[in-house]
Amino acid sequence: MTNYKVASQVARGLLTLSLAATVLSACGSSDEDAADQGDAIGGGQVTVYTGRHYGIEEVFEQFTTDTGIEVRFTTGKDPELRERLVEEGANTPADLLMTADAANVELAAEAGVLKEIDSPALEAAIPASLRSADNNWFGLSRRARVVVASTERVDDPPTTYEEVGDPKWKGRLCLRPSTHPYTQSLVASLIIANGNAAATETVASWVANDPLYIDSDTDIYEAIAAGDCDVALANTYYLGRLLEEDPEFPAAFSWPNQDERGAHVNLSTAAVTANGPNQKGAQRLLEWLATDGQQAFSDANFEYPADPSVDPAEIVGSWGTFKSDLDAILQLGEFQPDAVKVLSATGYE
Ligand code: FE2
Repeated sequence: MTNYKVASQVARGLLTLSLAATVLSACGSSDEDAADQGDAIGGGQVTVYTGRHYGIEEVFEQFTTDTGIEVRFTTGKDPELRERLVEEGANTPADLLMTADAANVELAAEAGVLKEIDSPALEAAIPASLRSADNNWFGLSRRARVVVASTERVDDPPTTYEEVGDPKWKGRLCLRPSTHPYTQSLVASLIIANGNAAATETVASWVANDPLYIDSDTDIYEAIAAGDCDVALANTYYLGRLLEEDPEFPAAFSWPNQDERGAHVNLSTAAVTANGPNQKGAQRLLEWLATDGQQAFSDANFEYPADPSVDPAEIVGSWGTFKSDLDAILQLGEFQPDAVKVLSATGYE
């Protein structure tokens, strides 16, 4: 986990850093202390734990420019940040939790470290299928995990997640390891759609193809370009970044399972913490990310805006529309433990 960073206007940097140090030493501060830091509508400073980090600093700076509220943030992996919130309990300095995975935010909600938010602005901007039923977390953008293939060596890419287990891809497949939330949520979606036995069969067929396990989606795309594998499972936004640098990048993806449930879709999420010192400020940041900041937040990482009235970035729009597996999203947390068991039982590394 990295040290705290502060998104602020450059001229205010020193002031902000000293303020951040003050807040750290006042760890365990009460709501009254928080009120001293901010005004009645939640000003002052907001502290964020974020598992979603691409381009986040620029987005927070824009929020600070719009509202005058400073954002201090620390990045980490979703499970680490969730466990840290639980361990810190009432003493957490974090006002907002942001994740790159819907399962981990739901597990945080179940652990009791998130706050229910009654916000007409959030309910108007974020469809019910992309936020928790209890309104204690909200999806801010959709991220699709798809079947990727080499444009140089593959003419007939798999059209479903299940077909990735076809023996013709033996020795030609790259996958993210079992420990990563993206893998766990994808397998959870297989269980939700097909049941435990069928999901186990699918994952076992992937493992039987002797995949090369690579713990970075960017490196997975690079492995396809280098010829180390021909087919892979990866998120679309990484290709957006690679194509921005090199429009001829030799990989493409297809939208899987379009004749049935649709492509597996995960979320970038945000949630006000149950015990943070500045809950009003956190709610303002959350509402801003869902409204005024929705375009910047989504575009910063080539993701799909949660608000259907906001257009995706140009390159993302060029990939066309697709059917997404919306039914699974709110159940990914519930089925995450089962997914871990399936991955373990099949010998998926
Ligand atoms: Fe990612």
